[in-house]
Amino acid sequence: MNSKMKFVRSLMKAAALANVPKHIDHFSKFSPSPLSMKQFLDFGSTNACERTSFVFLRQELPVRLSNIMKEINLLPDRLLATPSVQMVQNWYIQSLMEILDFLDKSPDDLSTLEMFVEVLETIRNRHNEVVPTMAQGVIEYKDTFGQQDAVTDHNIQYFLDRFYTSRISIRMLINQHTLVFNGNTNPAHPDTIGCIDSMCDVTEVTRDAYESAKLLCEQYYLGAPELELRQINVNNIREPIQISYIPSHLYHMLFELFKNAMRATIENHEASRTLPPITVLVALGGEDLSIKMNDRGGGVPFRKTERLFSYMYSTAPRPSIADKHRAPLAGFGYGLPISRLYARYFQGDLQLYSMEGHGTDAVIHLKALSSDSVERLPVFNKSALRHYKLSLEADDWCVPSKEPLDLAIYRTTK
Ligand SMILES: Nc1ncnc2c1ncn2[C@@H]1O[C@H](COP(=O)(O)OP(=O)(O)OP(=O)(O)O)[C@@H](O)[C@H]1O
Ligand SMILES: [Mg+2]
Repeated sequence: MNSKMKFVRSLMKAAALANVPKHIDHFSKFSPSPLSMKQFLDFGSTNACERTSFVFLRQELPVRLSNIMKEINLLPDRLLATPSVQMVQNWYIQSLMEILDFLDKSPDDLSTLEMFVEVLETIRNRHNEVVPTMAQGVIEYKDTFGQQDAVTDHNIQYFLDRFYTSRISIRMLINQHTLVFNGNTNPAHPDTIGCIDSMCDVTEVTRDAYESAKLLCEQYYLGAPELELRQINVNNIREPIQISYIPSHLYHMLFELFKNAMRATIENHEASRTLPPITVLVALGGEDLSIKMNDRGGGVPFRKTERLFSYMYSTAPRPSIADKHRAPLAGFGYGLPISRLYARYFQGDLQLYSMEGHGTDAVIHLKALSSDSVERLPVFNKSALRHYKLSLEADDWCVPSKEPLDLAIYRTTK
């Protein structure tokens, strides 16, 4: 490319960049369109039409990207200014621009469709490291500015839950399109459409996740608790439990829960010769598919349970790399919060019931019916805005005083 062409290109890029805020304003006025698992399946199976998918995605992806990009701008300025968050924000701008390039292209042109798949793959790869990069931003922010007030913590938690959910959903759309239209079927899983398995065998995925966590656990602790797995299928006691689900999402959640359960079990039984097993119960009812994982790892105090899902809290006391006591089965502290987002993404949930001194039950609830599994997506609107505008207000419950009881307190006015 000669220097004149380079110059013209850079001018065009600068002009496109200048228009980005306008595009974000425009597309964020639309609400994202949540799809049900059934729609994803129908879309991929009968007469899968690449043109229709292309036309849907070139509108829906900018809508989902723009909705969440509006919220990035509401982060505290000092967090927004960290190099990591800046990098993430640039990835989003770049990806949005690349999709917008397709707005004026004809869906009847085969080369356009091919190019679109390539661009989607590039975007997916570009965003691979979004979660650790964002986590790094939070660490940089905390390291530089120290502990923040409760409102800031709440805003960051609120944002990251929505941001990561949005990311999961965008990747879901990209994966479905690229996998369904690259022409390859998976012979090992004929019921798989894109990344959804319409006959996802829940106990099989549970065993897979257990085996991987066990390998990791044995590497570090030279042992691992056994697995006791039971299932209850209300429809037919002998049938395997199968639902329409994304095996990789289910695997992700279970793998994280197994790692936590194994680590707690081992660390809580250092002195004893035997390890209590991890028990898993899979139950399929008419509406719910639930998976309960029980360990006897000593549990966590009730007061701390919600904190285990916090991004701010878990990244706060980062153990140094040289810290020998650092547990090898634990990393960023994002295992639980991200797993809960996966569960909630299709209207499920993940809850932790711990009994300090004994152990923990972690329960994943999913929808048994594909028509009930509908994407749960953040939308940028007035209610969302209100969340960010919350201010520090007085508690509407009395805060117990830590001071010795002094009757003078009762005489103070509000
Ligand atoms: N089954 C459990 N028993 C006892 N404590 C648990 C259990 N599950 C989670 N925890 C506590 O919750 C914390 C947060 O768990 P989480 O999985 O989110 O992060 P992590 O395990 O520290 O790191 P990673 O990102 O690698 O998962 C753990 O560090 C641990 O203290
Ligand atoms: Mg973990």
